[in-house]
Amino acid sequence: MSQIIAEKKEFLSTLREDKWWIGPLLVLLGLLSFIAYSTWAAWQGEYFWWSGTVNTEGFGGYLSPFYSPPLFLKEGMNGIPPISHALFGAWPDWLWWLPGYSPAWLILVFPLSFRFTCYYYRKAYYRAFAFTPPACAVGGIPQKDYKGETGLLLFQNVHRYAMYFAIIFIFILSYDAVMAFFRNGEFGVGVGSIVLLINPLLLGAYTFGCHSFRHLIGGKMDCFSCSHSAEHAHSRWKIVTFLNRRHQIFAWLSLVWVLLSDVYVRLVSMGVITDLNTWV
Ligand code: FES
Repeated sequence: MSQIIAEKKEFLSTLREDKWWIGPLLVLLGLLSFIAYSTWAAWQGEYFWWSGTVNTEGFGGYLSPFYSPPLFLKEGMNGIPPISHALFGAWPDWLWWLPGYSPAWLILVFPLSFRFTCYYYRKAYYRAFAFTPPACAVGGIPQKDYKGETGLLLFQNVHRYAMYFAIIFIFILSYDAVMAFFRNGEFGVGVGSIVLLINPLLLGAYTFGCHSFRHLIGGKMDCFSCSHSAEHAHSRWKIVTFLNRRHQIFAWLSLVWVLLSDVYVRLVSMGVITDLNTWV
């Protein structure tokens, strides 16, 4: 069978009769939509925070995950936290070249590099964007001298390092989720609290199901049966496997939810919608 498939070299030629193109098409539309929205949202530099009152110094409020943590904040922008909430204070002059005085540009590289090099997403966009091949048993764009991820795509190995940053972000976003249950220091619950709570839960389910994380937690072993002391490592590996088996679904759910979280905070911050909550 593999012999037969290997001989069918023509682009998009296949013996498959199912609608194999639906998967790659949905991936294409889904990722393009996310890239378009996240670029637009990062460009704004405004309306990524809400706490019900302007420039309150009390803790709490809704912060869009696209902007968390805000490293610097530019005074005078709409819908942003007080400058005291910025990790490093007021917007420095040397960052004049960043569009929209947006702190999102300073942090997006971390989650994006993690997603971009994710084993699942690689499969998805190699198929949907590069057609190499577009699906199993379907002819892809012919490649000469393919070197896989030992040549041109060597940078994909950055994934194992990006993972550490992704884990740090889970803690940061969990902190934001806790802060979303406070407004001006007063405890309460709003729709935004729930939205921002679900966000790190889904991101955690995605991040802790990562293949690199499973390798790490499994003691970086390639063979469990080769060592008598591998029992505990194998148990840990099996726990992560529960999430790893669902990696694709959590990849999409977390991606969509992080986008919806930004949309929600943005619309509340702009006054387009009203947050239902216990504070008012
Ligand atoms: S393999 Fe997907 S996040 Fe690591």
